[in-house]
Amino acid sequence: MLWVKALHIIFMVTWFAGLFYLPRLFVYHTLGKDAASTERFKLMERKLYYGIMTPGALLTVVFGLWLWLGYGVTGAWLHAKLALVGVLIGYHLWCGRLLSDFKDDRNTRSHVWYRWFNEFPVAILIAVVILAVVKPF
Ligand code: HEM
Repeated sequence: MLWVKALHIIFMVTWFAGLFYLPRLFVYHTLGKDAASTERFKLMERKLYYGIMTPGALLTVVFGLWLWLGYGVTGAWLHAKLALVGVLIGYHLWCGRLLSDFKDDRNTRSHVWYRWFNEFPVAILIAVVILAVVKPF
């Protein structure tokens, strides 16, 4: 079980690397004016989302489900955690929508909006890790 938990945490870190960096790229993308930097941001965003962030999300969930359903680790803390993970998956998919807006030069939001958007996963990370490690209920 400890190997599964180690892989769960490794892919969680991978997922969060993308969740923290992609919205930051969106901030700079809105500020970029020349075509060369815009095309570079599109390439970086696509590789990050499909090459790192989405595989990280899928494998975090696979190993998390393995811990839960395979080893029977559960509790009220896990139900609260799953609700927050559901919100996080929603945020991830929203990033995918924004990615295609940028790809088609259809973004209408400001860099200030993306700076606030960028902060949201921090709150989820803090809450989920406390639930998973401390198990307060
Ligand atoms: C569907 C998604 C997920 C499921 C089903 C799930 C389930 C689990 C389970 C059953 C454990 C074992 C707890 C134990 O042995 O004490 C665990 C550990 C852990 N999970 Fe998740 N998890 C999921 C997503 C996440 C996410 C998104 C994060 C990070 C934000 C996360 C962070 C952790 C951490 C840090 C541990 C280690 C806790 C410890 O060893 O004390 N998990 N997870």
